[in-house]
Amino acid sequence: MFEQEYYEVRKKMLEKALDRYLTPKNVYPNELHEAMRYSIFSEGKRLRPFLMFAAFEMLKGKKSVKSLKNIVPAACAIEMVHTASLIHDDLPSIDNSDERRGKKSCHVKFGVPTALLAGDALLTKAFEVLTDVLPKFKAIECITAFTNSVSTRGMIAGQTVDITSTNKRINVNILKYIHLKKTGALLQLAMDIACIMSNADENVRATLGNFALNVGLAYQIIDDILDEIGGFEDLGKEPGQDLKNKKATYPGLIGLEKSKKEAEKLLNSAFKMIKGFPNNDVLLEFVQTIKDRLP
Ligand code: IPE
Ligand code: IPE
Ligand code: MG
Ligand code: MG
Ligand code: MG
Repeated sequence: MFEQEYYEVRKKMLEKALDRYLTPKNVYPNELHEAMRYSIFSEGKRLRPFLMFAAFEMLKGKKSVKSLKNIVPAACAIEMVHTASLIHDDLPSIDNSDERRGKKSCHVKFGVPTALLAGDALLTKAFEVLTDVLPKFKAIECITAFTNSVSTRGMIAGQTVDITSTNKRINVNILKYIHLKKTGALLQLAMDIACIMSNADENVRATLGNFALNVGLAYQIIDDILDEIGGFEDLGKEPGQDLKNKKATYPGLIGLEKSKKEAEKLLNSAFKMIKGFPNNDVLLEFVQTIKDRLP
């Protein structure tokens, strides 16, 4: 996965910052802080912070961990929002998943009430951390971008339609809406933040936003495919859950082969969208890494 050292150095730096931001687990109410840390420090791939860093460094035209200082709070915040969405996604009343990131899911380990609140607390913590972004006017821009991508216009909207489409025959446009929102929105947010923090112009932000939506849709199609024919190591949980839960998925709706073709097509367009950008090597490699997940 990725150019190993580039990725590892940034992952370590992010995880150190997450550790600084999160309240220690021996602070009252211990159970809540322990649950938040349990989910954050399980083996996540950290794709959204990584995408944010890679886009920011591309736009700045320089690979430098030091230059990431001002964007680190937003990178921590996006991982907190994402982790909160996973904790809630796994709850018995949503996907009822017992495993996450190769371990017991949060509610299996800590019980449903604590998991529900740990998700709420991580989502709230994300916005607290965003107030650390400097300069302050950029913090407000970042918070606006976060609210757009998470809210009833973003990830939460996608999760809602995902739930209301369970056990129903929906058309592919609705499924596309679900995937673009529940998964695409946070990838687009990673790009929005990179653009805000590097003072990119509106055209660049639109292009990179579209790039991320394509990658996000493809990523979720591949997740659907892996749930059907992948293994524990691909998913960090046992596959076969979508079928069991009667979820609307790409392979369920258009078949495996067509789904693979669609994911490839989306990633090829994403590739083309950023082909003309200088210093695009890490982002191009990112697209390739997502493609390599295809079985
Ligand atoms: C899981 O996201 C949820 C989907 C959008 C398919 P990731 O595959 O990025 O999960 P982690 O963060 O590495 O656990
Ligand atoms: C993505 O959908 C969930 C979120 C964006 C929160 P899935 O429900 O397919 O994700 P996994 O398969 O549980 O990781
Ligand atoms: Mg789900
Ligand atoms: Mg799920
Ligand atoms: Mg899935």
